[in-house]
Amino acid sequence: MSKRVLITGATSGIGRQLALDYQRAGWQVWGCGRDATRLGELAEQGITPLSFDARDRAALAATAANVPDLDLLILNAGHCEYMDLAQGFDGELFARVIETNLIATGHVLAAFLPRLTAGARLAIVSSSVTWLPLSRAEAYGASKAALDYLTETLRLDLQAKGIGVTLIRPGFVQTPLTAKNDFPMPCLVSVEAASSTIMAGLAAGHHHIHFPRRFIWLLRLLGGLPVGIWLRLSSLFVSKGRP
Ligand SMILES: NC(=O)c1ccc[n+]([C@@H]2O[C@H](COP(=O)([O-])OP(=O)(O)OC[C@H]3O[C@@H](n4cnc5c(N)ncnc54)[C@H](OP(=O)(O)O)[C@@H]3O)[C@@H](O)[C@H]2O)c1
Repeated sequence: MSKRVLITGATSGIGRQLALDYQRAGWQVWGCGRDATRLGELAEQGITPLSFDARDRAALAATAANVPDLDLLILNAGHCEYMDLAQGFDGELFARVIETNLIATGHVLAAFLPRLTAGARLAIVSSSVTWLPLSRAEAYGASKAALDYLTETLRLDLQAKGIGVTLIRPGFVQTPLTAKNDFPMPCLVSVEAASSTIMAGLAAGHHHIHFPRRFIWLLRLLGGLPVGIWLRLSSLFVSKGRP
């Protein structure tokens, strides 16, 4: 019997590529999102479309009731907005980003985690932004840092059930989310490359998947600098905002 994967945020970018690649690899794929046209396009490719807003707990519960046990659950849906502190702290923006990236992830976990049994794997897509603080990423970075902690603790608590947990932290990937960025994106990779790295890491049962390697090393190096030096460097290079 073919393996089963459910992917949130499958109507665009990284999630869409993963859905197509798993389907081509012979998996049975459930692809989630809100955009009806793009869900229809997934259905044409043999992917079972699931329509819900991840912030809507009731819609999620109703949807999950019709989904069988899964081998892999990839929580990838996400939203990015940058904060311009010159205009004050935008509490509405902060709430929007935290709600989609963090609170909604909790709703999706509540709905679909019961579909994972011994031998299955949960993967959560965070971001390389959590390696170091980056300008204008107050909301996005905070939401993803919280996802890091959530994922690491889920790994501890799901090990007794035989469920593996993987934290995925991509660098810049060419998607509609990054197409809006008005700053240089070092080491930008294609969705095809991102999907193939993620699939290989998940197949190998890795606890962590982060890429591209050169970019992650740079972030780790900068993240290890004394705060004063990073402040000076960031005022030179990143005053306009980053991932
Ligand atoms: N691209 C990058 O460079 C990069 C880097 C690091 C991390 N990431 C993370 O990778 C993930 C995918 O990013 P991407 O670049 O592929 O973004 P994308 O192309 O903008 O796709 C985002 C996906 O999330 C779904 N989504 C957003 N809000 C939703 C909601 N409330 N309910 C249900 N689905 C929702 C969208 O579905 P609908 O449009 O159908 O609603 C869409 O399928 C995100 O978590 C992002 O933070 C991306």
